[in-house]
Amino acid sequence: MKAIHSAFLLAAGLFLGACDSGNQQQTSSSAASAPAPVEAVDSAQTIDAQTDYHSFANPDEIRVTHLDLDLTVDFDEKVLTGEVVLHFQRDEVNDSILILDTRDLTIHKVTSDNQPVEYHLGERDPHLGTPLQIKVPKTAHQVVVHYSTSPEASGVQWLTPAQTAGKQHPFLFTQAQAIHARSFIPLQDSPQVRVTYNATVRTPKALRAVMSASNDPDAEQDGVYEFTMPQPIPSYLIALAVGDLEFQAMGERTGVYAEKEILDAAAKEFEDTEAMLIATEEKFGEYSWDRYDLLILPPSFPFGGMENPRLSFITPTVIAGDKSLVSLIAHELAHSWSGNTVTNATWRDLWLNEGFTTYLTYRIMEMIYGEEREQMEFVLGMESLQADIEALPAEDEILAIDLRGRDPDEVFSDIPYEKGALFVRELEQKIGREAFDAFLMQYFKDFAFESITTNQFVSYLDETLLAEHADKLSRDRIQQWIFESGIPDGAPTAESDAFVKIDNARQQWLLGEINASDINTENWNTHQWLYFLNNMPEELSDGQMSELDEAFNLTQAGNNEIAHSWLLMAINNTYKPAYERLNEYLTGIGRNKLVKPLYQALSQTPEGKAFAKKAFDEARSGYHPLTIKANEGYVN
Ligand code: BES
Ligand code: ZN
Repeated sequence: MKAIHSAFLLAAGLFLGACDSGNQQQTSSSAASAPAPVEAVDSAQTIDAQTDYHSFANPDEIRVTHLDLDLTVDFDEKVLTGEVVLHFQRDEVNDSILILDTRDLTIHKVTSDNQPVEYHLGERDPHLGTPLQIKVPKTAHQVVVHYSTSPEASGVQWLTPAQTAGKQHPFLFTQAQAIHARSFIPLQDSPQVRVTYNATVRTPKALRAVMSASNDPDAEQDGVYEFTMPQPIPSYLIALAVGDLEFQAMGERTGVYAEKEILDAAAKEFEDTEAMLIATEEKFGEYSWDRYDLLILPPSFPFGGMENPRLSFITPTVIAGDKSLVSLIAHELAHSWSGNTVTNATWRDLWLNEGFTTYLTYRIMEMIYGEEREQMEFVLGMESLQADIEALPAEDEILAIDLRGRDPDEVFSDIPYEKGALFVRELEQKIGREAFDAFLMQYFKDFAFESITTNQFVSYLDETLLAEHADKLSRDRIQQWIFESGIPDGAPTAESDAFVKIDNARQQWLLGEINASDINTENWNTHQWLYFLNNMPEELSDGQMSELDEAFNLTQAGNNEIAHSWLLMAINNTYKPAYERLNEYLTGIGRNKLVKPLYQALSQTPEGKAFAKKAFDEARSGYHPLTIKANEGYVN
């Protein structure tokens, strides 16, 4: 974004003729001297830490600070139509060009003080979308963009009634992170730009709208919903959902929105949310966002959760009946500090959001459910990280990853999460928990409502922990963690006493010393089952697979994580009795973390691929655009 400074005058110069299409080429070539299109970036060139390589916007020239949205939800056409008023600040009151990010939007007109304003859509970049250049009048403080979204908007999923729990009404939800807000709002789609917002959302009368903002569970269901988000947030946290939603309180500040069919089960499963909120607040500083509610989405939601402020979006696939998967809630809640209050400045810095959040997740799980649970989750997290490290190219194992010219969605891995958390855990272990907690609380205060880069974080460490604990920490070590591949030698290690007996049972069974039915699994919890299955050898015989299945009924496992682990084993061993269940799983769930490894494993053999293609074709119309994009390569 920074480099656009130089391109800016050029763009302004080109603007005059910009309305005739002959100028498109020129205008976009002016954008080429700006940071995008990113393909043009020479990877040998050093990264400018502050530059957001995934936005066309020019906030250094002119900065949007507030949005007023007015959107009508049209389920028949699958479009959002309306306007956004963009309020901005600029140093000099002068003719200037406001560059917004868009993707597949139809721009109807742009106005300022009710007068039409000249604008120009540049050339579409496959990852970044299309820059919208608006010629801002000298004295203006705001412009209004009148627009509609596309039915294929990458950040919006439109669900038919059949894809919901209630089967009566359609459902809509947005997912903006990382760079999809631009597919439903023309804006400066960079995490360096924070805005407050107000919104009016018009829906069919039977439905309720909720947003990442103040929600009123008692709002009259009259088809018009008003929202305010008074704290400045980055664009990737703007979120909207519309459906046949009801509300149930869980605590004073916490509650659940869901379809009524799953509301009770969700409220029960997540009843510890209030306790998590209180515990986190006590340890790491005041919660800044007023309420913390959950929205339970239909199963096509492509993530486990999304930390939309005041209202985390949650997959229903974690409602297991025994709270075994609620670390997801701890995770999204923790983002209220690391992510939403202190935000990554660019997508290269995602590990600042996810690594600190994953570290906090472990801490919250320990506070609420005890050390044993935390240790089991840590072991499973480390195993998952190890598997990723074996699969990833070295350059993708770096916390401060180079994403120039790449789509951030394509590089989703455990590196920013578990490697990031392991680094934070090492800091804690080196200086001691008490000192580290004090540091974290101060960190969240010092950068509250700011977006920071990895480099800023390292400078901050220099001034704080490194200065105070020079005997325990070194700059070299920190550089190694953040800028090098792999896991540094001597990193914290994970161990769980609760897994010892699982290892023993697995080992004895594999050696033929005992039958599967001899294993006393009566008191095993979900984590122990996952550990049991995830550490089986890749190849088992048909006899071994059926023995396990007969003893433990794994093909019918109701827990979605256990089912995932088992189905992966079934694919790797072509265990056919599980394939009907596999098909049901692939067509019933859209959470990418659960389905992608299955598609990937299936794609390794021609028969597997044919099976995957059939399931994918059946599921496709119900999948989120992100899930389609992440998996279509495995079936074609
Ligand atoms: N913010 C992420 C989801 C995300 C990250 C979306 C990057 C797009 C780009 C969310 O908080 C998250 O991490 N979800 C995980 C939760 C898990 C690690 C507990 C998920 O969905 O699996
Ligand atoms: Zn996260």
